[in-house]
Amino acid sequence: MKDRIGRTIDYLRVSVTDRCDLRCVYCMPEEGIPPKCHEEILRFADIERICRQAALLGIRKIKITGGEPLVRRRVELLIRSLKAIPEIEQITMTTNGVLLADKLPALIDAGLDAVTVSLDTLDRERFRMLTRRDELENVKKSIQAVIEDGRLPLKINCVPMEDQDPEDLAAVAAYAKDHPVHVRFIEMMPIGLGKDCGFLSEEQLISRLEPFTGKLVPVDEQLGNGPAHYYRAEGYAGRIGFISAVSHKFCSGCNRVRLTADGFLKSCLQFETGEDLRPVLAAGSDEDLAEAIKKAILKKPEGHHFDNVDAAGAEHRIMSQIGG
Ligand code: GTP
Ligand code: 5AD
Ligand code: SF4
Repeated sequence: MKDRIGRTIDYLRVSVTDRCDLRCVYCMPEEGIPPKCHEEILRFADIERICRQAALLGIRKIKITGGEPLVRRRVELLIRSLKAIPEIEQITMTTNGVLLADKLPALIDAGLDAVTVSLDTLDRERFRMLTRRDELENVKKSIQAVIEDGRLPLKINCVPMEDQDPEDLAAVAAYAKDHPVHVRFIEMMPIGLGKDCGFLSEEQLISRLEPFTGKLVPVDEQLGNGPAHYYRAEGYAGRIGFISAVSHKFCSGCNRVRLTADGFLKSCLQFETGEDLRPVLAAGSDEDLAEAIKKAILKKPEGHHFDNVDAAGAEHRIMSQIGG
């Protein structure tokens, strides 16, 4: 359906858990967050019910996120049931990759259409510092497993920081050199703990990458359902992408809403605006649920105000509770 200002909303991000097996400094505090208790987290049947109504309202693509989606037990069962919704064209997942290698066969069998792995650095010490866990080898193993299997389109998400060695950034980008994998660099957004982390703009990044990649030439290609735009580097099998919410605001083309693990349908990443679907799930009909989803979409703000992170209604959840 269309929102108040005519944007077509056809993409739903579903956070299946607020838990995570990493503790990225821009996303989660070291001690973690008190996880939602079992009863607060939507059951798969509830998520499916919401997605069915959302699909009738025009949602066509679903992204499974977390926290870390693979720490939710048997998430493949959810994927299989969402794939059975006739209007849904694509189900993808964004994961930190720690558990992906083991889960890969089950995810593919359930019908997952593509996967994105978050990987900020290839330096083991830096990975340990950024994520507060020593899991780089497992993430690399998962990326290798997806590449070798060859059935799932793969993207890599990297959130670079100001103090990062350009050679390290280029090493992440090099996944796109050797394999048909798209590597996207995401500008740090001032949301949650990201407010206090060193920010690198797309322009700064390009000037740090080009000595390694050669000239990055913009290409007009839509690779996926998100806000990334892409560049071509000579001799690279995949593309280098950027998700530059700060320097190249893309809200006017926003196509999405987000469901939190505890059943709140968020209209926009930066604001608390939306609808709590839990009471409707508990006591309402499917028509009531559809009305609540419509209401959240019609409340969608025009865009973020990253220049004013304390704007009225600004989100107080941290990124791991939203799913990016
Ligand atoms: P695909 O390209 O199809 O994989 O979709 P995607 O880019 O939406 O997927 P992914 O989960 O990899 O999202 C990448 C990151 O872009 C997210 O984790 C966020 O950090 C950022 N992002 C996604 N959607 C939005 C949005 O609506 N607003 C802002 N500001 N950032 C977003
Ligand atoms: N700014 C930009 N990206 C972020 N992510 C988490 N927090 C932030 C932030 N403050 C990214 C993760 C992951 C995706 C789900 O969101 O690195 O790739
Ligand atoms: Fe976990 Fe992703 Fe947040 Fe890192 S960014 S703590 S991997 S949810």
